[in-house]
Amino acid sequence: MDRPKLYADNDAMQRSNVNGFLSKFIENMTWKQDEVILEIGCGPGDMTNDILYRVLQNKIKQLVSVDKSAKMIEYANKTYGCSKLNFKVLDIECTNNCDSYSNCFDKIFSFFCFHWVNNLLDGFNNMHLMLKHGGEILVNFLIFNPIVYVHRSMDEEWKKYMDVTKLKSLNIYSKDEIIALFIKAGFRVISVESDAKKFIFPDFSSYIGVASSVDELFNVLPPHLLDKYHMHIKDKMCEKQLLEICPTTGKTTFTYYPITVHAIKD
Ligand SMILES: C[S@@+](CC[C@H](N)C(=O)[O-])C[C@H]1O[C@@H](n2cnc3c(N)ncnc32)[C@H](O)[C@@H]1O
Repeated sequence: MDRPKLYADNDAMQRSNVNGFLSKFIENMTWKQDEVILEIGCGPGDMTNDILYRVLQNKIKQLVSVDKSAKMIEYANKTYGCSKLNFKVLDIECTNNCDSYSNCFDKIFSFFCFHWVNNLLDGFNNMHLMLKHGGEILVNFLIFNPIVYVHRSMDEEWKKYMDVTKLKSLNIYSKDEIIALFIKAGFRVISVESDAKKFIFPDFSSYIGVASSVDELFNVLPPHLLDKYHMHIKDKMCEKQLLEICPTTGKTTFTYYPITVHAIKD
């Protein structure tokens, strides 16, 4: 996932997801002066700048937004970097990367990232390591990653392109398993929200826009197979009732399953 412009041009659903809950949680958090904040998995930084930074800028001393993709970070720094907002490369699964930020942050935010993380417990342990005592986290991601589902249920003809995607090792966890992992990492969970949500795209090709910005198979498929792969996605997603396409208007309703966890390091 290292095409920042493509991602930023197709993230209306991710924006509506975060806009739906951010202000409410921020009001419920305890704030001190001059806090230093970490955001994990910022991607191209457009949502960081337009949503998270906008809400926080008058409360905080510094927002450090990280992503494991150097291309995302280069784009984010060039487009949105400023004295109070820095973008840095960091892999949340890599303890060596995170060690240097031990007990550094007052709060940690993360949106739509952890469903791409292979080892959730390593990621949660590293967040715990980087957070100060009394610090709070607000983490939101998909319980069920539709791209992983499409790849796992893939017909034989596509499988030869799969090795490059590394998605095979991603686990699918239940809500209770995810909460148990936060607790195992040392957090006290304050609240969990996990209601299914819907987002309506004007048409199926707008959904394909989002899928192509995160599904690495789009990078490796020969161009003449792309239309067929779109149909494959459509069949699998409709079969699982994740997509519903209106036969008259073409409007495409995507059902997704996010989890939002607010927790504290005592
Ligand atoms: C779907 S984008 C989310 C971007 C933005 N936060 C949003 O809500 O739209 C997920 C981002 O998480 C990053 N990511 C995935 N695994 C990561 C890891 N282990 N450490 C840090 N970032 C990671 C990806 O590089 C990608 O930019």
